[in-house]
Amino acid sequence: MEIGLVSDLVQEVMELRRDGDVPLHRQIYSALQQAIIQNQLPAGTKLPASRDLARVLGVGRNTVLRGYEQLLTEGYVLGQIGAGTFVADTLPDAQPLGRRRADSAGAAPATAVPISRRGHEIARHADSGDVQHGAFMPGIPDVELFPHDVWRRLIGKYLRRRHAGLLQYSVRGHAPLKASLTHYLHATRCIQAAPDQVLLLNGCHQALDLCARMLTDPGDIVMMEDPGYWGARNVFRAAGLSVHPVSVDAQGMAPSEADWALRPRLIFLTPSSQYPTGVVLSLARRRAILAKAAECGAWIIEDDYDNELRYHRHPLAPLFGLSTSDRVIYLGTFSKAMFPGLRLAYLIVPPCLVEPLSVGSAELYREGRLVEQAALADFIADGHFASHIRRMRMVYAERQAALRTAIEGEIGELVTLSGGQAGIHLVYFFQAAIDDHAIAAAALAEGVIVRPLSLYYQDRAISRSGLVLGYAGVAVDQIAPAAVILTRLIRAAVS
Ligand SMILES: Cc1ncc(COP(=O)(O)O)c(C=O)c1O
Repeated sequence: MEIGLVSDLVQEVMELRRDGDVPLHRQIYSALQQAIIQNQLPAGTKLPASRDLARVLGVGRNTVLRGYEQLLTEGYVLGQIGAGTFVADTLPDAQPLGRRRADSAGAAPATAVPISRRGHEIARHADSGDVQHGAFMPGIPDVELFPHDVWRRLIGKYLRRRHAGLLQYSVRGHAPLKASLTHYLHATRCIQAAPDQVLLLNGCHQALDLCARMLTDPGDIVMMEDPGYWGARNVFRAAGLSVHPVSVDAQGMAPSEADWALRPRLIFLTPSSQYPTGVVLSLARRRAILAKAAECGAWIIEDDYDNELRYHRHPLAPLFGLSTSDRVIYLGTFSKAMFPGLRLAYLIVPPCLVEPLSVGSAELYREGRLVEQAALADFIADGHFASHIRRMRMVYAERQAALRTAIEGEIGELVTLSGGQAGIHLVYFFQAAIDDHAIAAAALAEGVIVRPLSLYYQDRAISRSGLVLGYAGVAVDQIAPAAVILTRLIRAAVS
């Protein structure tokens, strides 16, 4: 395609606005990305040399290069910048499992519906499937074993007329829950925080959305582990952030000088148990990341999503406790330790963020759920939470052992385990070249849900194939039959 045509396209799809909030490189990226998605730039199209496009658009060459780099990172284009950049022949994220559900159901594709560019992006990256539990759906605890009677009693207690105030809007959350929580986190995680540093939110996604909206501007860079939690990636994208993937090694997130040179505004990571690989961030890395983040003026969000469920040893102290610079925000959730439908997560924020984030939360989400918060405060204070965790830790350890036996006993030479020290899922890397999406689709057809590991990667160049298997919500006697299906499919894929 001619340079003129491409630059016209860029101008047409998105008129470059020089006085707006969105940086020019981001506008170029978005315009080209939309043109690729809508097939205005078909697969194989050679993009103009960055110098030429820069001249036509009247911007600096580095601005175009940054836009191109983002397209490369996300897999929209291929090639070496300088030698030639071509539109990729498959769109990124063209995986099954919940994605493009409208298309697969035969309905009109998302592009046919007049929704916003942002809405289109959210739909395009959507990853949550229609079925959210069963063998081996990751991230799901056993909700059958939750002490329903205790919970019902506590909820009932607060649903009486005497507590009618709990049916009102919440103003900064239920104070006794914030007190119970800080007490609990001090005892179990050495976190020193005053109750007013706790913000209660409807799940981690809302908490991340709040941080993104209140602490960043569209076009800012958020640095994230790769592989990483795709749910967080999607929330950040929806807030207009540019997600920069950082690789993970045996010491956890491993940002290079080039990564830091991008001067991220936000860093999202899972230090206690890297999601999904389970690697623990080393102390040296913790210190280095804290120091660099302070240098860049970046906020760190420490997602400690399954801190309660640790089987072998105590975790390292959270970054929140190590930081002297007030730049770390600690994120926890009750989804794994209690039940996901509770939709309760919390942020522990540095004192300087209490006011802005509380105001932001009230304005954006108008909180409530005080009855559940009151019940949860008692649940923790009366010791039910701690005893439920103790019990579930034993149950889950047994299930994990059953899953490991079933997988490793059958196809041990084909897979390598990662994780298992904590949490409710395991990662198996495939040793041979096996298409993990194909395995996931074949398993689903036989009633077994697994997540392809490659789904968790943003950067295709480092993506590895494997499976993420959740075991917590699967009774021991259901583990072996489901694993038999899975191991048969994996063995068939290599033979
Ligand atoms: C790493 C990580 N963080 C956060 C969450 C989500 O927590 P919530 O249910 O509070 O949204 C998940 C869910 O699986 C997760 O894997």
